[in-house]
Amino acid sequence: MERNNLLIAQSGGPTAAINATLAGAVEAAKKDGRIGRILGGFNGIQGILQRKIVDIGEQIKTAEDIERLSVTPAMALRSCRFKMKDSTSDPDTYEELSRIFKEYGIGYFLYIGGNDSMDTADKLGKFFKSRGEDIKIIGVPKTIDNDLVLTDHTPGFGSALKYVTTTIAEVLRDTKIYAQKSVVVLEIMGRDAGWLTAGSGIAQLAGGAPHLIYIPEIAFDADECIASINDLFKHTPHVVIAVSEGIRRADGSYVHTDERGGSTDAFGHQQLSGAGHYIESLIQEKIGCKVRSIELSVLQRAAGHCLSATDIDESMEVGRAAVALALSGESGKMAAIERISDSPYQSKVVPAELSDIAEKVRAFPTKWMSEGNSGLTEVGMNYFLPLIAGEKSSYYKNGLPNYFVIEDIFVEL
Ligand code: F6P
Repeated sequence: MERNNLLIAQSGGPTAAINATLAGAVEAAKKDGRIGRILGGFNGIQGILQRKIVDIGEQIKTAEDIERLSVTPAMALRSCRFKMKDSTSDPDTYEELSRIFKEYGIGYFLYIGGNDSMDTADKLGKFFKSRGEDIKIIGVPKTIDNDLVLTDHTPGFGSALKYVTTTIAEVLRDTKIYAQKSVVVLEIMGRDAGWLTAGSGIAQLAGGAPHLIYIPEIAFDADECIASINDLFKHTPHVVIAVSEGIRRADGSYVHTDERGGSTDAFGHQQLSGAGHYIESLIQEKIGCKVRSIELSVLQRAAGHCLSATDIDESMEVGRAAVALALSGESGKMAAIERISDSPYQSKVVPAELSDIAEKVRAFPTKWMSEGNSGLTEVGMNYFLPLIAGEKSSYYKNGLPNYFVIEDIFVEL
């Protein structure tokens, strides 16, 4: 069988823009006569191993399908958190994947995901290369955590940031109606890196909140936090705090692990939750004012009603570029974003080595945080602002979102 089919799969935690990347890739693949069938692997590499493979070229037919898919949040192809061992310690899995790729005539594979998924793509690329099997493997970035190295930012981050900043501005409106002193603590995702929480500093342009920002890269000091709130109360009765789920004490331990222990995923990552509640309890105990914590949790990663047009357009472009890279004969690369300028905002997609990206975490540069965790420097502001620019509407029917659904009709060979 000729090996000119394209297989695409999605993996890791969802974003609101991950289907825009899929839509861009499908659009580009359909335009190019060199690609045969466009296949989708359900539930990432784990599902591919179970031959959960659908013909997405058959299901995504019209320009409207592409458009509706691009504004549908969270993986249309579902996901997995699956730790690939290397080929020497788990040869059977690799042999099985080699068989499956041969059976389905796959010559190109795009894996859309975060650091762990880039690791999977890297391992697969190396395996096929070592066997002399000509399969082009391209990693395609996504994550609301924005913590991949060698890319200016990650698709999906801008939309999550738009949701977080909009929510902070709304929370401030809500909290300001009462004259009494109050604190609202918003807990934001980002296990190891504080990009999303730090980026929330741009919401200050829409009313002044968040007043304090706590991220994993800067050790959390409870006394300092209480002192900062008391200082703020001298000027305003309303304080809004943005806190990352991953904040740690100076000794590296999570502040809230003694309070709640979460489950761990296949990579040994602990499910985090409770940092906001921890600060709420601290304020209750030390200040005793009205205080409430809100965990944004999964709401921030699949908010299709608050999309950044810049993010969706760029995510589609990354998908198109990934197909172009595979067709040009590249393999073992990730389609990374390079920023050309902040204003006017311009970027382009460039290839980066998967092996330099896999499993690495890019920390937020703490020099972009103002004194006392009080906001962003100008450089920080200029970095984040373009990423949330522009609005994109989802499709609605009966007043409700009308998502594009890929049916699990698996290909029979
Ligand atoms: O994808 C990244 C992320 O959103 C992290 O910010 C968060 O800690 C984690 O996923 C949660 O993962 P899960 O969906 O497996 O609970």
